[in-house]
Amino acid sequence: MIKPLRKAVLPVGGLGTRFLPATKAMPKEMLPVVDKPLIQYAIDEARAAGIEEFCLVTARGKDNLIDYFDAAPELEHTLRERGKTSTLAALEASSMNAGSLVAVRQNMPLGLGHAIWCARSFIGDDPFAILLPDDIVKSEKSCIAQLAEVYRKTGGNVVAVNEVPREMTKQYGVLATGEDDGRLVEVKGLVEKPEPADAPSNLTIIGRYVLTAEVLKPLSQLRTGVGGEVQLTDAMAQLIGKQPFHGLRYEGTRFDCGSKIGFLEAQIAMSIERPDLKDDVRAFLKKYV
Ligand code: G1P
Repeated sequence: MIKPLRKAVLPVGGLGTRFLPATKAMPKEMLPVVDKPLIQYAIDEARAAGIEEFCLVTARGKDNLIDYFDAAPELEHTLRERGKTSTLAALEASSMNAGSLVAVRQNMPLGLGHAIWCARSFIGDDPFAILLPDDIVKSEKSCIAQLAEVYRKTGGNVVAVNEVPREMTKQYGVLATGEDDGRLVEVKGLVEKPEPADAPSNLTIIGRYVLTAEVLKPLSQLRTGVGGEVQLTDAMAQLIGKQPFHGLRYEGTRFDCGSKIGFLEAQIAMSIERPDLKDDVRAFLKKYV
């Protein structure tokens, strides 16, 4: 029987050095795109896939990410009294049901694989999604919901993939591919951040995964890879051949909000279709371009 997907792990331990000084006293995941922090986009996307249990893998200086998900009774009361129903709804999306958010500390910055391993008690034996909140995926259907559909069909692991220019493979986990129907591609191998000449393809992993708990076994060895870090990609590679493993060319657009240019593009993309903003945004874009 295929276990239902109910859990998500969100690694949020990174320092956010690319956005200093903005991130000097505030987690980068709290940076807003239009009027929602990055972390909220990831939570909304996971909830749209039916996920209701969340684990934040945090680090020092990241505590107000947890505070963000608290209920805010005074604020809610005031908004209700003032009849601000849409603001109230937005605010409610930022609070969690009792017990559905846990946080674990990543005590040392040893890499993404290590961060996921830190969530092992939360994961237990269950399948789980991983969302890297630096990535926003704008799509009709939630990207994680698209992956969840594949998981339910195959019972195995699935990662969201993008085609990138060859020279960019060294920024990503890269797939060696097997059967490929143009949408779903069988994963035959995985390499973390290869040089373009060594990359087995130009299909790269974005920050969205649905994995089985089996990945915790190779992770528990805490073997270091590229950059001296414990790489999730290396642990996932150990599952190939033992369990189904696929890449999904998801429908949607990914914005790399970990980079300045991706973050700026996301601001435009997420505001230009909003009924309350679109006319003004179009007008000022014309003014500047
Ligand atoms: C991580 C993963 C990499 C993946 C990328 C997606 O790298 O290690 O495999 O392609 O996220 O954003 P990072 O961006 O943390 O260097």
